[in-house]
Amino acid sequence: MDYRSIHRRSIDDRDAFWAEEARRIHWNTPFERVLDYSRPPFARWFIGGTTNLCHNAIDRWLPTQADRPALIYVSTETDEERTFTFAELHREVQRMAASMTSLGVGRGDRVLLYMPMIPEATFAMLACARIGAIHSVVFGGFASVSLASRIEDAAPTLIVSADGGSRGGKVVPYKPLLDEAIRLSAHKPGKVLMVDRRLAPFEPVAGRDEDYATLRAKHLDAQVPVTWLESNETSYILYTSGTTGRPKGVQRDVGGYAVALAASMKHIFCGNPGETYFCTSDIGWVVGHSYIVYGPLIGGMATILYEGTPLRPDPGILWQLVERYKATVMFSAPTAIRVLKKQDPSWLTKYDLSSLRALFLAGEPLDEPTSKWIADAIGRPIVDNYWQTETGWPILTVAHGIEKTPTRIGSPGMPMYGYDVRLLDERTGAEIGANEKGVVAIVPPLPPGCMQTVWGDDKRFVDTYFKSIPDRLVYSTFDWGIRDDDGYYFILGRTDDVINVAGHRLGTREIEESISSHPAVAECAVVGVADSLKGQVAVAFAVLKDPSIAATQDARLKLEGAVMAVVDKQLGAVARPARVHFVGLLPKTRSGKVLRRSIQAVCEGRDPGDLTTIEDPQALEALKQTMKA
Ligand code: PRX
Repeated sequence: MDYRSIHRRSIDDRDAFWAEEARRIHWNTPFERVLDYSRPPFARWFIGGTTNLCHNAIDRWLPTQADRPALIYVSTETDEERTFTFAELHREVQRMAASMTSLGVGRGDRVLLYMPMIPEATFAMLACARIGAIHSVVFGGFASVSLASRIEDAAPTLIVSADGGSRGGKVVPYKPLLDEAIRLSAHKPGKVLMVDRRLAPFEPVAGRDEDYATLRAKHLDAQVPVTWLESNETSYILYTSGTTGRPKGVQRDVGGYAVALAASMKHIFCGNPGETYFCTSDIGWVVGHSYIVYGPLIGGMATILYEGTPLRPDPGILWQLVERYKATVMFSAPTAIRVLKKQDPSWLTKYDLSSLRALFLAGEPLDEPTSKWIADAIGRPIVDNYWQTETGWPILTVAHGIEKTPTRIGSPGMPMYGYDVRLLDERTGAEIGANEKGVVAIVPPLPPGCMQTVWGDDKRFVDTYFKSIPDRLVYSTFDWGIRDDDGYYFILGRTDDVINVAGHRLGTREIEESISSHPAVAECAVVGVADSLKGQVAVAFAVLKDPSIAATQDARLKLEGAVMAVVDKQLGAVARPARVHFVGLLPKTRSGKVLRRSIQAVCEGRDPGDLTTIEDPQALEALKQTMKA
């Protein structure tokens, strides 16, 4: 059958479609019903079925491939390389699970992970899945204030962390940031489990901090049976940014997620058991959850966990790994490719990439020059795919496991099976025809694998995602899109205040709040500005309480550095604005709303749009002058 017919069937005959896909995973007890949609927009998938993500990722493969690689850890930061077979991974995960249990973690408890890209991070995620604890991984690049808000919201029983990470050869201590975050948070975890890599010396907190090596040694022969979970129990929470400064805990289920990932491995990524999957993301992001940890393992593939940058020890490292481990599937972000584009092209032809079936790219718009360059350079198909933390797996791409639909440059492709995608008018909710710009929306129920709700806040889930478009209960992606005559979609950027810096999703409001906490700052606005390398960068405009303190160029530079240091310390270097400009006032409407879109347009040298509601037209002119200075 052709792809379009299969997509149609996945919507029109939803239950039958997903019942078939559900056969791709192991169920301990079969589900009674495919979907319960009695309480829109909340969807419950595979009601009554019991399963387990860890079982599907590891135990299920033991009879056929116990001695084949499961986790391939490569660190170009610490010069380590180690392969864990499925049997070894099984043992390590049980040691971690037994250690967690000994610290009082049980089913439904939250375990927060603040970890670098080391095998123990993967063990900890899978151990939580095994015992029914809910993990919440916080990206290691976030600093204490970001971390504190997540600790407070998830209220973890246990935090698993490490002494430090390393990036570009520079050690990044984690422990001081974690200690500060726990100090800031109203919720205090009972225990902190520390993996000591001996990178960054630290003082354990007596009675709270436990050493993983010591605990692991006590549980070397641990046998921790899988806890069978009802399909709709929570597997994990992953925080992401939105319009407000408060991060949202995207909550995911067990059964629906396992089925969605297993199906995507087959239909989208075309990966087979026994092969190797190489995803260059980080476990702190959704791509890492779905396609470093769970997806490949559920698909019986070995997965590469890479700690390092695309440039060290040399710009050929990613391709060298593809060759060495004969990766058949690779997943990265456009920014990584743009970084490589600046290097000597011979690095790309040095290695044998014949094992690679396709390179998948996601997380930010894939520009045409980058797409063409990489396709020519590696001579392999490039597959753009568009999705979100909220959905857990691609919304738009091409399903080459079903049909070899041609890709189209600049387009991530077409709606994936299960997603009833529409383009809607932002103001009226009316459907928009081909070649017109609208909001990308999904008619619920969202397919398996997508978020269940916002952790602890059903109302926020409904209000945020399902009420932004008038008069229709539809899920808004908060992305602008356009569809051509053949049904290919193109993504044109966010409708809200989320920006995408090097594939990292950030909320401008969080950055604004952080900048405003600097004692000299009265108010500020942060916008995303197009950047040829990172896609977008954050640019800040701050109004000072006392403008005279930034009267000279020297003073301005010093203050700019001080403001950036506040963001580094509170949120992490990922959120640091590229520039902080000091201005006399911010362009606002007469009702006091900051005109962020106009500021952004000015920064990008575009027309600022309709300015009839602006309070003081001089503000925008002054802002232009400041940027020129
Ligand atoms: O704006 C879209 C952009 O990244 C957002 C989601 O980011 P995150 O939650 O971190 O999930 C990333 C999962 C891949 C989207 O709302 N985005 C993601 N993929 C693409 C994209 N924009 C254009 N093209 C893409 N392929």
